Amino acid sequence: MGADGKVNILMVDDQPAKLLSYEVMLAELGENLIKATSAKEALEILLKTDVAVVLMDVSMPELDGFELATMIRQHPRFQRTAIIFISAVHLTDLDRLKGYEHGAVDYISVPVVQELLRAKVRVFAELHRKTRQLQALNRDLERRVLDRTEELAAKAEMLFKLNVELVGKNQELDAIVHTAPDIIFSRQPDGARDYISDRFYEYTGAAAGSAVGFGWWDYLHPDDQARSRQRWLDCVQSGENYEAEYRLRGKDGNYRWFRARAVPIKDHRGKVIKWYGTCSDIHDSKLLEQSIRDNNVELEKMVDRRTDELRRLSVRLMSAQDQERRRIARDLHDGLGQELAVAKMILDKILLQDSSQPQEACAQASGIIDRAIQQVRTMSHLLHPPLLDEVGLLSALAWYTEGITKRSGIETLLDVQPPDFPRLAPEVETAVFRIVQEALTNVFRHSEARKVWITLRQENGLIVVSVLDDGKGIDERVADLRPDKVGVGIGGMKQRAREFGGELRLRNAAPGTLLELMIPSNSILRESNTVLNGVT
Ligand SMILES: Nc1ncnc2c1ncn2[C@@H]1O[C@H](COP(=O)(O)OP(=O)(O)OP(=O)(O)O)[C@@H](O)[C@H]1O
Ligand SMILES: [Mg+2]
Repeated sequence: MGADGKVNILMVDDQPAKLLSYEVMLAELGENLIKATSAKEALEILLKTDVAVVLMDVSMPELDGFELATMIRQHPRFQRTAIIFISAVHLTDLDRLKGYEHGAVDYISVPVVQELLRAKVRVFAELHRKTRQLQALNRDLERRVLDRTEELAAKAEMLFKLNVELVGKNQELDAIVHTAPDIIFSRQPDGARDYISDRFYEYTGAAAGSAVGFGWWDYLHPDDQARSRQRWLDCVQSGENYEAEYRLRGKDGNYRWFRARAVPIKDHRGKVIKWYGTCSDIHDSKLLEQSIRDNNVELEKMVDRRTDELRRLSVRLMSAQDQERRRIARDLHDGLGQELAVAKMILDKILLQDSSQPQEACAQASGIIDRAIQQVRTMSHLLHPPLLDEVGLLSALAWYTEGITKRSGIETLLDVQPPDFPRLAPEVETAVFRIVQEALTNVFRHSEARKVWITLRQENGLIVVSVLDDGKGIDERVADLRPDKVGVGIGGMKQRAREFGGELRLRNAAPGTLLELMIPSNSILRESNTVLNGVT
């Protein structure tokens, strides 16, 4: 078939005149008419040209129509080529049958009816054209199918690769979800959970899959349910990030604190399509936080109490200082003042030469002044024992306890362990001396004791001072160091002990009272320690 859509019609006859008549008859069809005067020429044309219909005479000299038809049919390209025989003879049915056997599709007898020939040729020409068109369409279709198949194969390969990648990513995600210490979950836009990781089931002991939807709410602490539900429903409505702390019941029945967080995933119109979140165990840090808060409150209360105690102590100290001043003034007035007044009177009398025995009066005045000097010395020693600075705590204590025995008649026994007791920092020695001084004053004033044991020990990194009497014992409330029960004396001792990181204890020793002072020795020893000659 040519580009113009015309098909080729090959006319074969040994008589050119007949060929011409056929040409005239078929001209009206508007197809390409090709003429061949022999079977050989016809075969040559057939091999070079796409022929739609072969119109041939049956009887030709060298190769007749039947033989030519047989040859044409043997060629695979021409098996479907329409062959129409024209014959003036052989018109029996048998002849026609023979013609068909040799590949004819039709048979026309002479005289040829013009219209009939045209009609038959037109049908076969049209059939050929349609066949060719169909073939072209088929080829096009096949090409398109092939293209599409290739395209699909490429897409399938891409999908396969994506799938492999996705499987890999899914495995990674699975590993993360399963090894994460947190509970991981996802929720539908309406807020119902559609996935919750194994960690939740491990912790709660819930049956697998039972926590999807709103089933997980059953594991919330009753006190936290309403609040966290409401917060969640608010977030679902507003599309805001969700955060809440609540207690979840574990499989042992105990509750632990968790912090849940969830973020919404939105589509291009801002509509929530999914929620993803985690739930972390914050129980320990929550408890720690709570205990720090409690401790802070407790600490603040303690500071308040201490401040109160100090305020009271300072008030009492001031009044004690006042009393002490009054006592000193009284001692000066009644003791020293009186003695000096008498001495002055005697001396004045001698000066006025009024004395009958001036020498005796002088001796009397000198005796009175001696007593006054003694009083001054005792008073100044009590106010600040000079021995403490010079020879140390042990000698000062020995001197002081001796004085107590002399003044009160209470027997004192001082014991020091080890005998080469180290020198302590000056402020510590003063503090220990003052504490013993106050303890012994208390024994004298309150205990009715006859004997008191004072011991000084260094053991297990501590300096331990104890004062034990055999008196009537101490009120339990004072022994408990209740701030409203102790006076300035014990309050001051406690304060001094604390200043050096130490502790003061009081208890009934049945009989008597035991006072103990303990101070860690690491920071209170004198730098270049000189060993004292033991005082026993
Ligand atoms: N060795 C003791 N035996 C019995 N009671 C004691 C002894 N030491 C102290 N007390 C009791 O403890 C109370 C408190 O003593 P604290 O030294 O604090 O105050 P105070 O001696 O009464 O007055 P001050 O403030 O002048 O010392 C005393 O009033 C006394 O009742
Ligand atoms: Mg006292």
